[in-house]
Amino acid sequence: MKINILKNYWELGEVVSDIVEHTLTLPEPKLVLPTGSTPISLYKELVNRDLDWSTTTTFNLDEYVINLNHPHSYNSFMKKQLFDRVNIYPDNYHFPFRPTEAFEDKIKEIDLCILGIGSNGHIAFNEPGSSFESRTRVVDLSEQTIEDNSRFFDSIDEVPKQAITMGLGTIMESKKIVLMANGEHKLNILNVAMNGEVTEDIPASILQNHKNVKIYYCE
Ligand code: F6R
Repeated sequence: MKINILKNYWELGEVVSDIVEHTLTLPEPKLVLPTGSTPISLYKELVNRDLDWSTTTTFNLDEYVINLNHPHSYNSFMKKQLFDRVNIYPDNYHFPFRPTEAFEDKIKEIDLCILGIGSNGHIAFNEPGSSFESRTRVVDLSEQTIEDNSRFFDSIDEVPKQAITMGLGTIMESKKIVLMANGEHKLNILNVAMNGEVTEDIPASILQNHKNVKIYYCE
């Protein structure tokens, strides 16, 4: 698969913003959005563009099993980075919740799904070994992910051990998928996932089976 290499982190945000901007011109657009450090330049750029989000519905890929008002919940992250700064209706943004079947029922006809990739090849919180058929569910986070994400918390002990994540099967139903990766430490896993064997050991490798995926990387 082609990995599009961009000049820098800000260009990554701009290029993916162009795709989001186009999607927002569709009637009642539906987006799936990531958190983490990678999409921050995207959300900054989108806020600067002053787009109309009033008919848009969004679904986040995942959420920790945590109080939603916790400063490090993905709910808090998204409000701070995007939702409180654009004209999206609070009723129109969603995070995975229990019962997960009820959340699944809402995710239909996704126009654009934006992903990051974990250093172990996870997408959303589908850790290595996740079934390619998986749907939204509660998962245990791997040691690697807990360690990677401890940088957002005061100590590693505060990182939640579980999350609710969209499944790989759920993600693959999106009409279009964009994967963003930033930093040299992601290059190896990106190459393995996009050009190596398609295997549940590398969850992101499932994207090789999707007809409309764009991969963007910057150092
Ligand atoms: C978060 C998510 C995760 C991250 C991945 C990379 O919503 O879906 O899969 O995209 O862990 O995180 P960063 O961008 O912090 O390297």
